[in-house]
Amino acid sequence: MNFVEFRKKWTPKIDQYLEEHLKQDIDDKKISQIMTYSVMAGGKRLRPLLFLATLDSLNKDITNSEVQIACGIELIHTYSLIHDDLPAMDNDDYRRGKLTSHKKWGEAEAILAGDALLPLGIQWISEGSKSYELVEIITSAVGPNGMVGGQYLDIDSTNNASVADDEVLIDRMEWLKTGCLIEACVKMGAVYAGADENSKTNLIKFADNFGRAYQIYDDLVDVVQTSKEAGKATHKDQENGKNNTLTILGIEQSRSELTKLITEAKANLASLNNEVLTGFLDLYQKVL
Ligand code: IPE
Ligand code: IPE
Ligand code: MG
Ligand code: MG
Ligand code: MG
Repeated sequence: MNFVEFRKKWTPKIDQYLEEHLKQDIDDKKISQIMTYSVMAGGKRLRPLLFLATLDSLNKDITNSEVQIACGIELIHTYSLIHDDLPAMDNDDYRRGKLTSHKKWGEAEAILAGDALLPLGIQWISEGSKSYELVEIITSAVGPNGMVGGQYLDIDSTNNASVADDEVLIDRMEWLKTGCLIEACVKMGAVYAGADENSKTNLIKFADNFGRAYQIYDDLVDVVQTSKEAGKATHKDQENGKNNTLTILGIEQSRSELTKLITEAKANLASLNNEVLTGFLDLYQKVL
């Protein structure tokens, strides 16, 4: 099965699980509705698919429990987007082609929906995997030494000319805010499927390169895509005073860096010989 077929098969199953369980598992209908609004707004489901594709590459069957883990990851990712869009953060009005949570429901409601999605996501991962190790991987990937740490560096470096040339800091910020969670999806898959050391090492190297590539891709999306294509406001990072790979390298060099990382990520997958994972990489070169 190639990537396109894999995505076509599993995206509806992810969507169905998310919708059903956000209804079933939450007592209060209103908060359930607010959480569901953002989760079901039409994300690409990159992270849950990446977890499932890692299992596929290791010949591990995908049943309801694995889909539950995958969906737990998507809840956590959606929480990060709701909070990222808040007026105190990036102050965005559109996400996934719809009004952002705070625009639609109010700021307090959006904060609480995000607050609720994070633990529910961890709960789903814990219930689905019954694995302390998976919970440890996901919680460290999104905490102060992971995603939130990266979001802090992002905010701290916004409109801050003193870091504009600090390539090491910008690299670290981009890795922490986005790369870490992407790496965690693959790491969780490798641990859950009991990958041998060699496969695990290669998969993590792949995830490392892909995770780095993904934020550069997202920074490029901001300058090369229309808001309709991206489903969110574009041409905004510069105006907002964001410092990122693009502000350091410029468009052309950022494109070369993206190509370099994707090529390395492909090489990391050579011995696994899995069409699904390789297909992920092809997709993200399209922005070029
Ligand atoms: C956007 O993530 C934010 C980043 C971490 C770069 P995605 O590009 O995966 O967004 P969705 O989930 O498809 O909306
Ligand atoms: C978001 O980075 C990273 C996280 C949500 C953790 P951006 O702020 O660049 O993402 P977009 O462009 O709003 O999707
Ligand atoms: Mg941001
Ligand atoms: Mg943002
Ligand atoms: Mg962005």
